[in-house]
Amino acid sequence: MARIFITGSADGLGQLAAKDLIAQGHQVVLHARNRERGKQALAKAPGAEDVLIADLSSMAETKDLAAKANASGVFDAVIHNAGVYRIPQNSVGAEGLPVLLAVNTLAPYILTCLMHRPKRLIYMSSGMHLQGKPNLDNLTAAALGKLTYSDTKLHDVILTMAIARKWTTVYANVVNPGWVPTKMGGAGAPDSLEAGYQTQAWLAVSNDPSATVTGRYFHHKRQTRYSPVADDPTVQEKFLAACEQITGVKTG
Ligand SMILES: NC(=O)c1ccc[n+]([C@@H]2O[C@H](COP(=O)([O-])OP(=O)(O)OC[C@H]3O[C@@H](n4cnc5c(N)ncnc54)[C@H](OP(=O)(O)O)[C@@H]3O)[C@@H](O)[C@H]2O)c1
Repeated sequence: MARIFITGSADGLGQLAAKDLIAQGHQVVLHARNRERGKQALAKAPGAEDVLIADLSSMAETKDLAAKANASGVFDAVIHNAGVYRIPQNSVGAEGLPVLLAVNTLAPYILTCLMHRPKRLIYMSSGMHLQGKPNLDNLTAAALGKLTYSDTKLHDVILTMAIARKWTTVYANVVNPGWVPTKMGGAGAPDSLEAGYQTQAWLAVSNDPSATVTGRYFHHKRQTRYSPVADDPTVQEKFLAACEQITGVKTG
């Protein structure tokens, strides 16, 4: 039995991955943005060990979440699932940072750096990352002006490949779930909802040789093409330095 933490598990793919892993007999800790959503998350995933609360648009709350997760014990796997797509332009979080940047890019970075290192790290990207630009020269300024969802999903691939290169004792992989009918994907999304959560659940616990790898980009349990920009160590270092500068958190 593995112990797994899943961010953004009050709804959508995070919630479905949590239920799947609980049904397989694993110990799952949920995460939700506030107490109300936390209660709803636990009600929808009976058998979960607990739910931890933090609004990831706030760096302070995200740092506090890492501390709460560490206090709860060690995780075998963390699925960095929470994400935002359609949000009002210029939405900012507690520290004045754009919500898109805080939730999609900085929260996975902060949690990765501050949480006790698990054996497996799974990040959520999107096929849309292929249209993204790293925008690393002044990430905050770019974010305030024109950072897109695609840019942040490219950041998630860069983060994965950087961690896979630097932390050789963990499996760090990234998933494109397809365009699936969640709150984010919308009711008309064409891809399979089941296939949309199974890859990250599989990467979290399976001992299959094709799941016990690192630095790979998966779609429906198969390695697929991703932006070669993410493999460039210079880009990776620049990305980590930008995140460190904004968050005050070192990569380690
Ligand atoms: N659906 C797709 O077609 C698709 C395609 C490509 C990639 N993805 C990626 O897959 C992941 C999951 O997406 P999904 O479709 O399951 O989206 P979703 O249904 O919108 O769920 C997103 C989850 O993240 C949580 N979340 C968002 N902002 C948060 C914040 N500030 N603090 C704490 N939690 C927050 C949400 O909480 P609330 O429920 O309280 O809002 C929800 O639990 C995302 O990273 C997304 O980028 C999805």
